Amino acid sequence: MTSTERQYVSDLTALPADFTWGVATAAYQIEGAVAEDGRSPSIWDTFSHTPGKVDGGDTGDIACDHYHRVPEDIGLIKQLGADAYRFSVAWPRVVPGGDGPVNKAGLDFYDRLVDGLLEAGVTPFATLYHWDLPQVLQDRGGWTVRETSEHFAAYASQVVERLGDRVKDWATLNEPLCSAWIGHLEGRMAPGLTDLTAAVRASYHLHLGHGLAVQAIRAASSGARVGIVNNLSPIEPASVSEADLAAARRADGHINRWWLDPILGRGYPQDMVEEYGVELPVREGDLETIAAPLDWLGINYYFRQIVTADPDGTAPHARQVSVPGARLTHMDWEVHAEGLEQLLLRLTEEYGVQRIYVTENGSAYEDVVAADGSVHDPERVRYLEEHLAACARAVGKGAPLAGYFAWSLLDNFEWAYGYDKRFGLVHVDYATQRRTVKSSGLRYAELVREHAARSARPAA
Ligand code: FCB
Repeated sequence: MTSTERQYVSDLTALPADFTWGVATAAYQIEGAVAEDGRSPSIWDTFSHTPGKVDGGDTGDIACDHYHRVPEDIGLIKQLGADAYRFSVAWPRVVPGGDGPVNKAGLDFYDRLVDGLLEAGVTPFATLYHWDLPQVLQDRGGWTVRETSEHFAAYASQVVERLGDRVKDWATLNEPLCSAWIGHLEGRMAPGLTDLTAAVRASYHLHLGHGLAVQAIRAASSGARVGIVNNLSPIEPASVSEADLAAARRADGHINRWWLDPILGRGYPQDMVEEYGVELPVREGDLETIAAPLDWLGINYYFRQIVTADPDGTAPHARQVSVPGARLTHMDWEVHAEGLEQLLLRLTEEYGVQRIYVTENGSAYEDVVAADGSVHDPERVRYLEEHLAACARAVGKGAPLAGYFAWSLLDNFEWAYGYDKRFGLVHVDYATQRRTVKSSGLRYAELVREHAARSARPAA
C-alpha cells in the first residue's frame, strides 16, 4: 500500500476493546445458484428478469457464485481481519413454498456456512430477510397481506431451530424501508409497485412480521440476541423557509421515524399517518408485538439527505436536492461521515437505544484491476477511515456502538444497478470469479490489527 492511502489515518482509540469488526453481504447479491437444491424464485428473480428493471439486464442468476465458493469466501473474511460476518438467509431456499415444509438441502447450505465460519473463528450474524420474498407469496399479495407476516415468523422459527445452537445474533429484516417505499411506492425495486396504499400496508406487515419473528426466534433459541436493521439518513432542510422546514420534518418521518418509532415502542408517528392518509390494518395487540424488546439495533448508513418541499410529488412531498461541490461515490451518493455520527448520537440520546451495530456502511467506486493484478481504491480507503472515525467520535460521546460491518465483503449484484456498482473490499472479476483483495480490504485488516494491539495493552 502506498503512503497516499494512509493519509487519512484517524483516531479510533475510543472504540471499545471488544468492538466487533465485520463484513456484510446478502443472499441474492452473492449466492447465484438460483435454481439449485430446491430453491424457488424470489421477487428479485422475477424483477431482475423483467426487461428494463435492472441496468444492463443483469440478474442474480450467478452473481459471485458464492453458493459454490464458501470456503474461499470464508478465507477472504479472515484475510480482511473481520471477526464477524453478516449474511442473509434466502427464504426461497429454505421454504420454497413460502409457507409449509422446510427444504432440507437449502438449510444445509447455511448449516455448512455457519460451521465454516465458526471453525475460522468468525461470529455469524444472520439476517432472515434481505428482500428476497418467495415469488409464490408475492402472488398471494406479498407484504400487503397479513399472512405474509405470519409465514415469515414460521420460516424464522424453522431457520433458528436448525442454526440457533450456533448462531446467536439474528436480524429479522434488512431495511424494511426499501422493501416498502422503494419496492411498493417508487417501484425501483422488487416487486416494483407504485402504490401508496400498498406501500403503507407493506410497511405495516413488515413491522408485524418483524415482531412475530422476534417472538419466534426467542421461542426457538433461548440464547438468541435479536435485532433489526434499518437504513437511516439525517435529514436537513434545503433552506430555512417554512415550506422546507416542514418538508424536512415529513422526510424525517418517512425515512427515520416511521421505521424507528413503532419498533421502539412509540407507535406510528401521527403526523405521518395523516400525511399518508392510509388506514393501518392494526389488530389488538399488534403494536405490542411490533415493539417487542430487542437486544440491539442495526443501522445501515450511506448518506444524509437535504430536502426541499415538493408539492407535486407523492408522500412525503419532499425532494432530495444535491449539495454543490459534494464528494460523490459512483452511486452519486454524497460522502458525509458526520451523518453517521449524528445518527448514532440521535439513537442514543433521543431513542435511548442500548446497543447499536453499524450493520452496513460502504462506498461504490469504479475500481480497476492494475497490470500487476492489484486493485488500488484510495477513495474507498478514505471513506472507510472517515466513517470509522465518525463511529469512534460517537462512542466518545456516549453511543453504545458495539461493532461495524463494512458493506461489502465482495463486489456483488447491486440490485437495480446490477454489477456496475462495486462496493466490495474484495474485487470480483465476474467472467472468471477471481477475487482480489482491494487496498481498502488490506487497510481494513490493518485497522483491525491496530485496534487489537491497542486493546491488548494494559490500561494506563
Ligand atoms: C443497502 C442494501 C445492501 C446494499 C447497499 C449498497 O441498501 O441493504 O443490500 O445494496 O445498500
